[in-house]
Amino acid sequence: MRTGCSMPQRRGTRIRGRLLERANARLSPRRPGRRADSPHRGAAAHLGIRLREYDVRIPTLIPPYDEMLAAASTAVAAVESRSPVVVDLGIGSGALAARCVASVPRARLVGIDTDEGMLALARKRLQRLGDRVDLVPADFLSAPLPRCDVVTASFSLHHIPTRRRKAALYGRCFKAIRAGGLLVNADCCLASNAALQAQDRRAWLRHLERSYTPARARGFLRAWAHEDVYFRLEDEIAMMRAAGFTVDVPWRRHSFAVIVGTKSGGVDPCRDI
Ligand SMILES: C[S@@+](CC[C@H](N)C(=O)[O-])C[C@H]1O[C@@H](n2cnc3c(N)ncnc32)[C@H](O)[C@@H]1O
Repeated sequence: MRTGCSMPQRRGTRIRGRLLERANARLSPRRPGRRADSPHRGAAAHLGIRLREYDVRIPTLIPPYDEMLAAASTAVAAVESRSPVVVDLGIGSGALAARCVASVPRARLVGIDTDEGMLALARKRLQRLGDRVDLVPADFLSAPLPRCDVVTASFSLHHIPTRRRKAALYGRCFKAIRAGGLLVNADCCLASNAALQAQDRRAWLRHLERSYTPARARGFLRAWAHEDVYFRLEDEIAMMRAAGFTVDVPWRRHSFAVIVGTKSGGVDPCRDI
Protein backbone atom coordinates (compact mmCIF):
# COMPACT_ATOMS: atom_id res chain seq x y z
CA MET A 1 0.00 0.00 0.00
CA ARG A 2 1.33 3.42 -0.91
CA THR A 3 1.37 5.74 2.06
CA GLY A 4 3.67 8.49 0.89
CA CYS A 5 5.67 9.52 -2.11
CA SER A 6 8.30 7.08 -3.17
CA MET A 7 11.94 8.12 -3.12
CA PRO A 8 13.46 9.06 -6.46
CA GLN A 9 16.44 6.73 -6.32
CA ARG A 10 16.28 3.01 -6.94
CA ARG A 11 17.79 2.64 -3.46
CA GLY A 12 14.64 4.23 -2.01
CA THR A 13 12.40 1.91 -3.98
CA ARG A 14 14.30 -1.14 -2.81
CA ILE A 15 14.17 0.04 0.81
CA ARG A 16 10.46 0.65 0.51
CA GLY A 17 9.81 -2.71 -1.14
CA ARG A 18 11.49 -4.65 1.65
CA LEU A 19 9.82 -2.67 4.41
CA LEU A 20 6.38 -2.89 2.89
CA GLU A 21 6.63 -6.59 2.20
CA ARG A 22 7.10 -7.23 5.91
CA ALA A 23 4.69 -4.53 7.04
CA ASN A 24 1.82 -5.61 4.80
CA ALA A 25 1.95 -9.12 6.13
CA ARG A 26 1.41 -7.70 9.58
CA LEU A 27 -0.88 -4.70 9.29
CA SER A 28 -4.43 -5.46 8.35
CA PRO A 29 -7.12 -4.41 8.63
CA ARG A 30 -6.16 -0.80 9.36
CA ARG A 31 -8.09 1.94 11.07
CA PRO A 32 -6.90 5.50 11.47
CA GLY A 33 -5.45 6.11 14.90
CA ARG A 34 -4.99 2.44 15.66
CA ARG A 35 -2.09 0.12 15.45
CA ALA A 36 -3.52 -2.88 13.70
CA ASP A 37 -0.64 -5.15 14.59
CA SER A 38 -0.41 -4.49 18.26
CA PRO A 39 -2.48 -4.81 21.40
CA HIS A 40 -1.67 -1.15 22.15
CA ARG A 41 -4.13 1.59 21.36
CA GLY A 42 -3.27 4.25 18.79
CA ALA A 43 -0.88 6.99 19.88
CA ALA A 44 -3.58 9.61 20.53
CA ALA A 45 -5.72 7.23 22.59
CA HIS A 46 -2.64 6.23 24.56
CA LEU A 47 -2.02 9.90 25.38
CA GLY A 48 -5.69 10.44 26.23
CA ILE A 49 -6.23 13.01 23.46
CA ARG A 50 -7.88 13.21 20.04
CA LEU A 51 -5.67 12.51 17.04
CA ARG A 52 -6.44 15.82 15.34
CA GLU A 53 -5.36 17.68 18.49
CA TYR A 54 -1.99 15.93 18.66
CA ASP A 55 0.25 18.80 17.57
CA VAL A 56 -1.49 21.32 19.81
CA ARG A 57 -1.71 19.09 22.86
CA ILE A 58 1.68 17.39 22.87
CA PRO A 59 3.56 20.47 24.23
CA THR A 60 1.05 20.62 27.11
CA LEU A 61 1.98 17.02 27.97
CA ILE A 62 5.74 17.05 27.48
CA PRO A 63 7.31 20.11 29.15
CA PRO A 64 10.21 20.81 26.79
CA TYR A 65 8.72 19.22 23.63
CA ASP A 66 9.62 21.99 21.17
CA GLU A 67 12.99 22.60 22.74
CA MET A 68 13.84 18.91 22.56
CA LEU A 69 12.88 18.62 18.91
CA ALA A 70 15.01 21.70 18.20
CA ALA A 71 17.97 20.13 20.05
CA ALA A 72 17.49 16.80 18.26
CA SER A 73 17.31 18.36 14.79
CA THR A 74 20.38 20.50 15.55
CA ALA A 75 22.22 17.31 16.48
CA VAL A 76 21.17 15.69 13.19
CA ALA A 77 23.09 18.43 11.36
CA ALA A 78 26.28 16.94 12.85
CA VAL A 79 26.04 14.02 10.42
CA GLU A 80 28.92 13.84 7.95
CA SER A 81 26.83 13.29 4.83
CA ARG A 82 25.41 16.48 3.25
CA SER A 83 22.51 14.57 1.69
CA PRO A 84 21.76 12.01 4.39
CA VAL A 85 19.04 9.41 4.49
CA VAL A 86 17.24 9.98 7.82
CA VAL A 87 15.03 7.22 9.21
CA ASP A 88 12.55 8.45 11.84
CA LEU A 89 11.28 5.67 14.10
CA GLY A 90 7.71 6.40 15.24
CA ILE A 91 7.50 9.50 13.04
CA GLY A 92 4.06 10.41 14.45
CA SER A 93 2.78 13.64 12.93
CA GLY A 94 6.19 14.41 11.39
CA ALA A 95 7.21 17.27 13.71
CA LEU A 96 10.81 16.09 14.19
CA ALA A 97 11.18 15.04 10.56
CA ALA A 98 10.12 18.51 9.38
CA ARG A 99 12.71 20.10 11.68
CA CYS A 100 15.40 17.70 10.44
CA VAL A 101 14.79 18.79 6.86
CA ALA A 102 14.98 22.44 7.94
CA SER A 103 18.29 21.68 9.61
CA VAL A 104 19.72 19.48 6.80
CA PRO A 105 17.91 20.70 3.67
CA ARG A 106 19.15 17.93 1.37
CA ALA A 107 18.05 15.12 3.67
CA ARG A 108 15.76 12.36 2.44
CA LEU A 109 13.35 10.90 4.97
CA VAL A 110 11.94 7.50 5.74
CA GLY A 111 9.26 7.65 8.45
CA ILE A 112 8.15 4.43 10.10
CA ASP A 113 5.02 4.20 12.26
CA THR A 114 2.36 1.63 13.04
CA ASP A 115 -0.37 4.21 13.53
CA GLU A 116 -2.18 5.00 10.27
CA GLY A 117 -3.77 8.13 11.73
CA MET A 118 -0.38 9.54 12.71
CA LEU A 119 1.04 8.70 9.31
CA ALA A 120 -1.81 10.67 7.71
CA LEU A 121 -0.82 13.73 9.79
CA ALA A 122 2.84 13.27 8.80
CA ARG A 123 1.89 12.91 5.13
CA LYS A 124 0.05 16.22 5.26
CA ARG A 125 2.82 18.05 7.10
CA LEU A 126 5.61 16.74 4.81
CA GLN A 127 3.66 16.92 1.55
CA ARG A 128 5.75 19.79 0.19
CA LEU A 129 8.85 17.56 0.26
CA GLY A 130 7.34 15.35 -2.44
CA ASP A 131 9.36 12.28 -3.31
CA ARG A 132 12.03 13.00 -0.71
CA VAL A 133 9.77 11.42 1.92
CA ASP A 134 8.74 7.83 2.28
CA LEU A 135 6.15 6.93 4.93
CA VAL A 136 6.04 3.28 5.88
CA PRO A 137 3.36 1.62 8.01
CA ALA A 138 5.45 -0.83 9.98
CA ASP A 139 6.65 -1.86 13.43
CA PHE A 140 10.20 -0.61 13.88
CA LEU A 141 10.89 -3.51 16.22
CA SER A 142 10.54 -6.02 13.42
CA ALA A 143 10.69 -4.22 10.06
CA PRO A 144 14.11 -4.18 8.41
CA LEU A 145 15.83 -0.82 8.80
CA PRO A 146 17.07 0.72 5.55
CA ARG A 147 20.72 1.66 5.08
CA CYS A 148 20.93 5.25 6.28
CA ASP A 149 23.04 8.04 7.74
CA VAL A 150 20.82 8.98 10.69
CA VAL A 151 18.20 7.22 12.76
CA THR A 152 16.02 9.60 14.77
CA ALA A 153 13.29 8.98 17.32
CA SER A 154 11.30 11.33 19.54
CA PHE A 155 9.04 10.00 22.27
CA SER A 156 8.58 6.69 20.50
CA LEU A 157 11.22 4.38 21.95
CA HIS A 158 9.60 4.40 25.41
CA HIS A 159 7.02 2.10 23.82
CA ILE A 160 9.62 -0.68 23.69
CA PRO A 161 8.62 -3.00 26.50
CA THR A 162 11.95 -4.49 27.59
CA ARG A 163 15.61 -3.60 27.90
CA ARG A 164 16.51 -6.64 25.78
CA ARG A 165 14.36 -5.47 22.88
CA LYS A 166 15.60 -1.90 23.14
CA ALA A 167 19.22 -3.05 23.16
CA ALA A 168 18.47 -5.22 20.12
CA LEU A 169 16.97 -2.22 18.29
CA TYR A 170 20.06 -0.12 19.05
CA GLY A 171 22.16 -2.96 17.62
CA ARG A 172 20.06 -2.99 14.44
CA CYS A 173 20.35 0.81 14.19
CA PHE A 174 24.15 0.56 14.47
CA LYS A 175 24.22 -1.94 11.59
CA ALA A 176 21.92 0.17 9.41
CA ILE A 177 23.81 3.46 9.94
CA ARG A 178 26.83 4.23 7.74
CA ALA A 179 30.16 5.24 9.31
CA GLY A 180 30.01 8.88 10.38
CA GLY A 181 26.28 8.55 10.97
CA LEU A 182 24.14 9.15 14.05
CA LEU A 183 21.39 7.77 16.23
CA VAL A 184 19.49 10.70 17.78
CA ASN A 185 16.90 9.90 20.43
CA ALA A 186 14.77 12.46 22.31
CA ASP A 187 12.79 10.85 25.11
CA CYS A 188 12.06 10.51 28.77
CA CYS A 189 15.20 9.26 30.56
CA LEU A 190 15.14 8.97 34.32
CA ALA A 191 17.70 10.18 36.82
CA SER A 192 19.64 7.47 38.63
CA ASN A 193 19.30 9.15 42.01
CA ALA A 194 15.85 8.37 43.49
CA ALA A 195 15.44 11.83 45.07
CA LEU A 196 16.28 13.54 41.77
CA GLN A 197 13.84 11.21 40.02
CA ALA A 198 11.09 12.30 42.44
CA GLN A 199 11.95 15.99 41.87
CA ASP A 200 11.76 15.44 38.12
CA ARG A 201 8.36 13.79 38.42
CA ARG A 202 7.08 16.75 40.44
CA ALA A 203 8.37 19.12 37.76
CA TRP A 204 6.48 17.10 35.10
CA LEU A 205 3.31 17.25 37.21
CA ARG A 206 3.71 21.02 37.67
CA HIS A 207 3.93 21.38 33.90
CA LEU A 208 0.79 19.27 33.35
CA GLU A 209 -1.06 21.31 35.98
CA ARG A 210 -0.58 24.46 33.88
CA SER A 211 -3.09 22.98 31.42
CA TYR A 212 -5.03 20.37 33.44
CA THR A 213 -6.46 19.88 36.90
CA PRO A 214 -4.13 18.20 39.44
CA ALA A 215 -6.26 15.04 39.32
CA ARG A 216 -6.10 14.89 35.53
CA ALA A 217 -2.36 15.58 35.59
CA ARG A 218 -1.77 12.68 38.01
CA GLY A 219 -4.12 10.56 35.90
CA PHE A 220 -2.00 11.15 32.80
CA LEU A 221 1.20 10.00 34.47
CA ARG A 222 -0.57 6.99 36.01
CA ALA A 223 -2.11 5.95 32.68
CA TRP A 224 1.15 6.31 30.73
CA ALA A 225 2.99 4.31 33.37
CA HIS A 226 0.93 1.29 32.31
CA GLU A 227 2.24 1.33 28.73
CA ASP A 228 5.46 3.34 28.69
CA VAL A 229 8.83 2.03 29.79
CA TYR A 230 11.38 4.64 30.84
CA PHE A 231 14.98 3.69 31.51
CA ARG A 232 17.55 5.65 33.44
CA LEU A 233 19.72 7.91 31.33
CA GLU A 234 22.78 5.93 32.36
CA ASP A 235 21.13 2.70 31.17
CA GLU A 236 20.26 4.30 27.83
CA ILE A 237 23.87 5.38 27.43
CA ALA A 238 25.11 1.90 28.38
CA MET A 239 22.80 0.23 25.83
CA MET A 240 23.91 2.58 23.06
CA ARG A 241 27.59 2.06 23.92
CA ALA A 242 27.09 -1.70 23.97
CA ALA A 243 25.64 -1.44 20.46
CA GLY A 244 28.86 0.23 19.29
CA PHE A 245 28.04 3.95 19.45
CA THR A 246 30.05 6.67 21.16
CA VAL A 247 27.52 8.67 23.15
CA ASP A 248 26.83 12.36 23.86
CA VAL A 249 23.97 14.03 25.67
CA PRO A 250 23.67 17.50 24.09
CA TRP A 251 20.47 18.39 25.96
CA ARG A 252 18.95 17.35 29.28
CA ARG A 253 16.33 18.72 31.66
CA HIS A 254 14.50 16.91 34.46
CA SER A 255 13.17 13.58 33.09
CA PHE A 256 14.01 14.37 29.47
CA ALA A 257 17.11 14.07 27.33
CA VAL A 258 18.38 14.13 23.77
CA ILE A 259 20.98 11.39 23.36
CA VAL A 260 23.25 11.14 20.35
CA GLY A 261 25.10 7.98 19.37
CA THR A 262 27.84 8.38 16.78
CA LYS A 263 29.05 5.55 14.60
CA SER A 264 32.65 6.57 14.23
CA GLY A 265 34.88 5.66 11.35
CA GLY A 266 34.39 8.88 9.45
CA VAL A 267 36.07 12.16 10.34
CA ASP A 268 38.33 12.25 13.44
CA PRO A 269 36.29 14.21 16.02
CA CYS A 270 39.48 15.77 17.50
CA ARG A 271 40.97 16.96 14.20
CA ASP A 272 40.10 20.65 14.77
CA ILE A 273 40.89 20.79 18.48
C1 LIG B 1 4.17 9.88 21.36
S1 LIG B 1 4.20 9.56 19.66
C2 LIG B 1 5.61 10.57 19.15
C3 LIG B 1 5.50 10.94 17.71
C4 LIG B 1 6.58 11.89 17.18
N1 LIG B 1 7.85 11.22 17.06
C5 LIG B 1 6.67 13.13 18.00
O1 LIG B 1 7.75 13.44 18.51
O2 LIG B 1 5.65 13.83 18.13
C6 LIG B 1 4.89 7.92 19.51
C7 LIG B 1 4.80 7.40 18.08
O3 LIG B 1 5.54 6.19 17.98
C8 LIG B 1 4.76 5.23 17.28
N2 LIG B 1 5.21 3.88 17.68
C9 LIG B 1 5.28 3.37 18.93
N3 LIG B 1 5.77 2.12 18.90
C10 LIG B 1 6.02 1.84 17.61
C11 LIG B 1 6.56 0.69 16.93
N4 LIG B 1 6.94 -0.41 17.61
N5 LIG B 1 6.71 0.74 15.58
C12 LIG B 1 6.35 1.86 14.90
N6 LIG B 1 5.82 2.96 15.48
C13 LIG B 1 5.66 2.96 16.82
C14 LIG B 1 3.34 5.56 17.68
O4 LIG B 1 2.39 5.03 16.78
C15 LIG B 1 3.37 7.08 17.69
O5 LIG B 1 3.06 7.65 16.45
